[in-house]
Amino acid sequence: MKKTVLVIGGGGREHAIVCALRRSPQVEKIYCAPGNAGIAQQAECIPLKDTDVEGLKAFALEKGVDLTVVGPEAALAAGVADAFRAAGLKIFGHSASATAIESSKEFAKRLMEKYGIPTAAYRSFSEYDEALAYVLSRPFPAVLKYDGLAAGKGVVIAQDAQEARAALQDMLVDESFGKGRVVVEDFLTGPEFSFMCFVDGERVYPMPLAQDHKRAFDGDKGPNTGGMGAYTGLPFISEEDREFAYRHILCATASAMCKEGRPLCGVLYGGLMKTPQGIKVIEFNARFGDPETEVVLPLLESDAYEIFSAVASGEEAQQPRWRDAVTMGVVLASKGYPGHYEKGFPIAGLEKVSTPVLHMGTALREGGYVTAGGRVLMVVAEGKDIAAAREKVYAEIARIDCPNLFFRYDIAYQAL
Ligand code: AMP
Ligand code: GLY
Repeated sequence: MKKTVLVIGGGGREHAIVCALRRSPQVEKIYCAPGNAGIAQQAECIPLKDTDVEGLKAFALEKGVDLTVVGPEAALAAGVADAFRAAGLKIFGHSASATAIESSKEFAKRLMEKYGIPTAAYRSFSEYDEALAYVLSRPFPAVLKYDGLAAGKGVVIAQDAQEARAALQDMLVDESFGKGRVVVEDFLTGPEFSFMCFVDGERVYPMPLAQDHKRAFDGDKGPNTGGMGAYTGLPFISEEDREFAYRHILCATASAMCKEGRPLCGVLYGGLMKTPQGIKVIEFNARFGDPETEVVLPLLESDAYEIFSAVASGEEAQQPRWRDAVTMGVVLASKGYPGHYEKGFPIAGLEKVSTPVLHMGTALREGGYVTAGGRVLMVVAEGKDIAAAREKVYAEIARIDCPNLFFRYDIAYQAL
């Protein structure tokens, strides 16, 4: 019997998930809620918000959906996986209580401390005076993290006492993000990388490593964004490093979460740093990374339905197989992003691009695509090495014509 799948979310990450499921011979019908104009080529888009738990559940029951795959963390934190499981529906995504590994920095730090998982030393505070006294007792720069869902804006690297006072005032006195606590941690140095695994309780299936580029402009300059590009095949992470991170970080964390009564069921994303003192955790996410997923899933050789379904049902899966190649993806964003930008510019030439193009923020107007978001498209290319993938991806981007897009020219510079 061919399967019906529901994917929750509507960005480039979900487009990559839909494309991977499309390659599965078992999958017949794919719904995506809410999806986007690009996803609509491979799936039927349903106008339901990713946090509309009751609406999504009713839809899955009505359509006899065999498996649901969750993209965004907001849906997990809203309890979508708990509600689906309670209704007897199979879903790939963590319970709300396990999602705390991402939604609460303090929970994640306490877990790592308790189980000896390597990360920066930290303390957590709710009072301005105590927080400031601790910061002033430590060397600068200081890393200040607002504890809660701050949409990626809750991290400040304070270079001196003045910057630390301003950030703590903002987070603890003015409560710009709401009432919360602040985690203060030591500043670490070294290249960052993303290690995602499929996790079902104690079973941990690794994916290829990737690296994201968070700043808007070349040379890692400009404001932080949702990610301007990513690639796989990281020459600065040895097989020994990878093995260490797999055992002592990803597997150790999956096991710790079981012991805490919050078993994982979905993706565990380790945002890691290779410091002079070894590999350490910068953050965990409870979901596929964006834009890492867009470069990792195209390499999946085995059946995506198989692995999602096994994890969602708590059954042992075959080790996923990955193509022996590397990928690189470059995001085309609206001029002005991540600040103010205009929408509605026509995008021409997409039919001439021969490599995968994942839609992040597009809409259809009079039969053609127009820009409809900050990050608009991600062009991905594969190669035998990163130089080959890089040459290909920029050649494909040159075929796309849109007056209001910009992109970085230096994606993967740390690998070249
Ligand atoms: P996070 O939201 O925790 O991923 O932090 C956002 C970014 O801040 C990370 O990608 C790092 O570049 C930087 N960062 C966070 N924690 C540290 C740390 N302890 N030392 C140095 N940089 C950090
Ligand atoms: N690429 C970073 C994230 O998904 O949070």
